[in-house]
Amino acid sequence: MRKPIIAGNWKMNKLLSDAKGFVADVKNNVPSSDSVDAIICAPYPFLYELVKETEGTDLKVAAQNMHYEESGAYTGEVSPAVLKDLGVTHVVLGHSERREMFNETDETVNKKAHAAFNYGLLPIVCVGETLEQREANQTMDLVAAQVKKALDGLTEAQVKETVIAYEPIWAIGTGKTATSEQANEVCTHVRKTVAEAVSADAADAVRIQYGGSVKPANIDELLQQSDIDGALVGGASLEADSFLKLVEAGK
Ligand code: G3P
Repeated sequence: MRKPIIAGNWKMNKLLSDAKGFVADVKNNVPSSDSVDAIICAPYPFLYELVKETEGTDLKVAAQNMHYEESGAYTGEVSPAVLKDLGVTHVVLGHSERREMFNETDETVNKKAHAAFNYGLLPIVCVGETLEQREANQTMDLVAAQVKKALDGLTEAQVKETVIAYEPIWAIGTGKTATSEQANEVCTHVRKTVAEAVSADAADAVRIQYGGSVKPANIDELLQQSDIDGALVGGASLEADSFLKLVEAGK
C-alpha cells in the first residue's frame, strides 16, 4: 500500500508574512505523516523560515525548482546543496510552467533528478500533455517518454522514492479537471512505463500524483483511483482550510 502524498504548489504567490500565517494555521493540524505526506512547495525566499517554523511537525517543505550544479556562474539559480542545507525535503522538477517559460527540458529534469538524490532531496517530477497533444492522441507516448527520460540512470531504489506528478497542462489553473478515468488511465500508463523501464517493484512503489484543478470537492474521487496516490495542487492549496481538507482526504 503506497502512502498518499498531498503537495501544495504555491507557485509565485504570497508574501512571507502570509506564508508564515498559513504554516501557523496548518502545521499542528495536519494528519500524522504515518498516514499521509503533507508538503508545501514554497518560493525560494520563504524556505528558510518555513523549514524552521515546521520543525518537529508533520508538515514538510519543498522547493519548486533547483539547479543541477552545486555552485558556479549561474546567476539567479539555487543549488541543491543550499536546499539541503536549509532542510528542504522535496523538490518539484519539470513543472510544465518551467518547461514552457523557462527552458526546462527532459534532459535538465533528468540532471536535476540525479542532483536531488545526490543531495538527499526527493524529486517530484512533473509530466503532462497539452490539449493539442491529447486531441492528437499523443498523450500516452509523450508522458511515457517524459517519464523514461526523467528517470534515466536512477537506481531502482531511487525510482522507488521518486514521486511522479501527472499534470495535464490543459487542466492546470483552468478549473477544468481531468475526469478520474482520464487521470487514472494516464497514471496507470505511467506506472506501466516505470515497470518496463526499471522494474515491477519500482512501479509498485513509485507514488504518482495527479495535478490540474484539484480541489476539496473532487479529490476524494481522484484518490479512489487505482493508480493515483496523491495530488499536486496549485490554487486550492493557497488557503489553509482548503489545504487541510486536501490532506485530510489523503489519510
Ligand atoms: O503544480 C500544481 C499545479 O500545476 C496545478 O495547479 O491551480 O490547477 O491546481 P491548479
